[in-house]
Amino acid sequence: MPPAIDKDASLGMLAAERPPRIVLFERLHLDYCCGGSSSLDDACRQRGLDVDSVREQIEAVDRGGPGLDEPTPEWRPREATVGELCEHIVLVHHDGMREEMPRIAELLETVVRVHGADHPDLELVERTFASLRAELEEHIEEEELVLFPTCRGLEQGSIDPAGVEPGLIARHRTEHEAVGRKLAALRELAGGYELSQALCSTHRSLLEGLLRFETDLHRHVHEENNVLLDRVGAMLDRPPIAGATPVDVLIEALVELADAGRAERASRLAAKAYAGLRRGEPVQAQRLNALMHKLILSPRHNDDKE
Ligand SMILES: [Fe+2]
Ligand SMILES: [Fe+2]
Repeated sequence: MPPAIDKDASLGMLAAERPPRIVLFERLHLDYCCGGSSSLDDACRQRGLDVDSVREQIEAVDRGGPGLDEPTPEWRPREATVGELCEHIVLVHHDGMREEMPRIAELLETVVRVHGADHPDLELVERTFASLRAELEEHIEEEELVLFPTCRGLEQGSIDPAGVEPGLIARHRTEHEAVGRKLAALRELAGGYELSQALCSTHRSLLEGLLRFETDLHRHVHEENNVLLDRVGAMLDRPPIAGATPVDVLIEALVELADAGRAERASRLAAKAYAGLRRGEPVQAQRLNALMHKLILSPRHNDDKE
């Protein structure tokens, strides 16, 4: 009998339907969060996996069968209200990250100081993590100040959907994609977090920390992309915007320019775009203003002068 799991179902939907499947997806490196809109079939093809074998493994997980020794997520985001979901994300994921990111940064500093001369890749890991951390700090702050209060207000009926910033949801999805790309780059630079490659006990703690950080961030983005934003998109009575707005694309390009060592140039372009948008599109202009300040303060800022 062929497996019952629909191979055209999206990974995000499959993960949201039954959270224990998440551990299997993590093990198979199937991107169910930032790339959660891909069908199971496409995702398996991309990873070179046999889709029927994966469907059988999903069914085994659903039956509670053997094979997964890691603890499976007990939290059922689909059963929570929007308010509960936002509260869970803040308490578990945002606060967890705020605690963990400085600890990882400290471990990185030690490892680079001790082993950096013989292992120059470690400095790249440190810089990529610093850049990801800066992006995440700004992202979660905006979620707590703007996105989540909007979500709660929509659920309670105290906010008129017509007054919600168009593109709010698409923007968060775009930011999640950018985070996902940086997280994947970090994994590659850090040798896939292979503990057998650890240079010392501090390096081992660092690799373990980064792996836990990645797992938590995947679950965090999954709960936002595949549950919260889908649900709020429906409340707005219009489908979530699949594509990015021109300002999303501009911001993404400027961040890439900064990552390539042209932070000063990127900051000047952000200032120019801000001036052009200030009167007609104050909300979008504010995003460019925030980016401009972030780039000026960024450790990448001096790269231009090297
Ligand atoms: Fe978040
Ligand atoms: Fe987010």
